[in-house]
Amino acid sequence: MGMFLIRMAPSIHHFLLLSLLLLSISSGCCCADGVDDIGPWECSFVNNYTDGDPFKTNLDKLLTSLSANAPTTGFYKDTVGNKSNKVYGLVQCRGDISGVDCAKCINNATKQVLHDCSNSKRVQVWLTKCYLHYSDENFFGNLGMSSGSMAVSYSTDYDDAFVALQGVTLMTKLATTTPNQALMFQTTIIDAGKNGKRYGMAQCTRDLNRADCGKCLDKLMLDLGSSSYNKRGWEIFTMSCRMWYNDYQLFSANYSLPSNRGTRKVLSQRVQVSLIAFLMLMVLNVF
Ligand SMILES: *[C@@H]1O[C@H](CO)[C@@H](O)[C@H](O)[C@H]1NC(C)=O
Ligand SMILES: *[C@@H]1O[C@H](CO)[C@@H](O)[C@H](O)[C@H]1NC(C)=O
Ligand SMILES: *[C@@H]1O[C@H](CO)[C@@H](O)[C@H](O)[C@H]1NC(C)=O
Ligand SMILES: *[C@@H]1O[C@H](CO)[C@@H](O)[C@H](O)[C@H]1NC(C)=O
Repeated sequence: MGMFLIRMAPSIHHFLLLSLLLLSISSGCCCADGVDDIGPWECSFVNNYTDGDPFKTNLDKLLTSLSANAPTTGFYKDTVGNKSNKVYGLVQCRGDISGVDCAKCINNATKQVLHDCSNSKRVQVWLTKCYLHYSDENFFGNLGMSSGSMAVSYSTDYDDAFVALQGVTLMTKLATTTPNQALMFQTTIIDAGKNGKRYGMAQCTRDLNRADCGKCLDKLMLDLGSSSYNKRGWEIFTMSCRMWYNDYQLFSANYSLPSNRGTRKVLSQRVQVSLIAFLMLMVLNVF
């Protein structure tokens, strides 16, 4: 993970700064014992539990429930406990992976957070194939707009300007069609001729409704900003949606592209404005 640059999208900057002061959020991307698929995580230590707490008993029950139930459909949310010891949790596996891989990924995610975020009551982790989130606060259906997004890209991995433009255009379109898919998950392939292919993928957590899924993905495309859109590969995510883009096939080879269920009629105005900004940046880069 050393090659990755983790960049807070502009909107998260202030929030994180504030959070660091108020909540002591820690996040990073290193090293739980015995787990090699590790991902960025975020823990808030505003309100810790201790090992004897009823909260810990409830958390263990919750994690057991999530790992037992999520692999069947790729998504599960559950609540365990009452009042101050109540814990809310969800798992979202990527739409193209098998139940077996989903179960393995949840197992890895659980190990990682119990190692890196032990005693934290508010935890999120983004692995390659799954996302785990638990909290003492109810976050179900919450877009998490105020907490911004995180983007990951190789710092110098610039793509051909015209391919990057095709890429960002198609990913913007993917943000509009993904909410209409059955599982709010969709993939796309761009054929850039002699420059090869580019692959994209988008997903919302299934506790969101379709309209909020659209808002979430639109926001990611805005947050992506000028420092990542022109890369050969990037990933951007929040607590409720996620997008991936790269020059190799990101999704399982056996996953067949579902038929397009149609586009939302209008791109939001803000997305259109940002696309125009992308176009202008492209022109400046080229000439
Ligand atoms: C989980 O971790 C194991 C051991 O580090 C690794 O071999 C495996 O690829 C990971 N699986 C998933 C689905 O993340
Ligand atoms: C919670 O635990 C973390 C890590 O052990 C620690 O840094 C933090 O100060 C604790 N927070 C509180 C409110 O005690
Ligand atoms: C929560 O409260 C209900 C009813 O008061 C009780 O039946 C249940 O066992 C409690 N659950 C936990 C995990 O404490
Ligand atoms: C994909 O399908 C092929 C042929 O059916 C099979 O051999 C392979 O194991 C599958 N791969 C995955 C990742 O499911």
